[in-house]
Amino acid sequence: MLQGLIAKLAVQHDLNDAEMLQLLTSTDSETNKLLAAAADKQRRAVYGDAVYIRGLIEFTNYCKNNCYYCGIRAGNCHVERYRLTKEEILACCAEGYALDFRTFVLQGGEDPYFTDERMCDIIRSMRAQHPDCAITLSIGEKERASYQAYFDAGANRYLLRHETALDEHYGMLHPASMSLANRKRCLFDLKEIGYQVGSGFMVGSPWQRPENILADIRFLQELQPDMIGIGPYITHAQTPFADKPSGTAEQTLRVLSMLRLLFPYALLPSTTALGTIAPNGRELGLQAGGNVVMPNLSPVSVRKKYELYANKICTGEEAAQCIVCLKARVEAAGYRVVVDRGDVKR
Ligand code: 5AD
Ligand code: FES
Repeated sequence: MLQGLIAKLAVQHDLNDAEMLQLLTSTDSETNKLLAAAADKQRRAVYGDAVYIRGLIEFTNYCKNNCYYCGIRAGNCHVERYRLTKEEILACCAEGYALDFRTFVLQGGEDPYFTDERMCDIIRSMRAQHPDCAITLSIGEKERASYQAYFDAGANRYLLRHETALDEHYGMLHPASMSLANRKRCLFDLKEIGYQVGSGFMVGSPWQRPENILADIRFLQELQPDMIGIGPYITHAQTPFADKPSGTAEQTLRVLSMLRLLFPYALLPSTTALGTIAPNGRELGLQAGGNVVMPNLSPVSVRKKYELYANKICTGEEAAQCIVCLKARVEAAGYRVVVDRGDVKR
């Protein structure tokens, strides 16, 4: 029944609000299948069967913020906190390089220990050790001058999900000390400085309605990011949202396919959260329009401590094991892991 709308979206790469809401609220599995098929056709037209890998290094789980949904929020006193040293980070990169990674993502909580000076020192060392690799940062909201300093030190990309694009909903997911306005300011600063920018949001976060996802899409159309990361919201027991239900794979996959058709050029990760909520979630994400996976390169000893949500996958495997497993999964799903920085094809 929604076939006409999907065809229209595939040609125009946009729909009006009413049409978009029709797709977002549809619950039949046929719609998901048709959307995934159209999205896969679109991704193959731009990226072929290539899947880009990004080596994720979770280098600190200290965080000064208290986002209500997040397991490593400052208020969670059950978390065993850790920081990796520069030497440990560089060792993760060296191991990753030998395993064909050409992009490293430094992700962490907003940890004041990592001053601009310390960050720039780490970035410069990574840049010197791996001149042919992309360096991605995912360390939250900073002043523009800090973003500029990291960029000058050699960082190329920045991931900062906007989380939700309406003020009221943003206020329900975050304490009053955080604001959507500042998050948006960060994203536009990052773009202006020259980073390849990634944004995104959780699907099925508490109180999220189809109208929220529509607003997220409209905001992304304004921002025109290079990467868009979405995954299901997954409940974590040690947060104020412990009793809130998780999002679903179906809803996440539907939105992922819509994003592929809305942003044909975009880098869309099939996320670890999606792989956590459904047994073959990452494979399904690739078949629904995703073209990036972000395996963990953090030392196994710290992996379980970086628990944003419950039951996160791949926390027990060495990087080498994980990449062998992942390559097999990607190939079984009909795609190919490539040795490439995986820059955006605009
Ligand atoms: N479930 C799913 N995703 C989460 N994130 C944080 N907490 C959760 C959760 N409970 C996501 C946020 C953040 C990214 C690093 O992880 O969207 O931007
Ligand atoms: Fe990590 Fe399979 S991808 S163990």
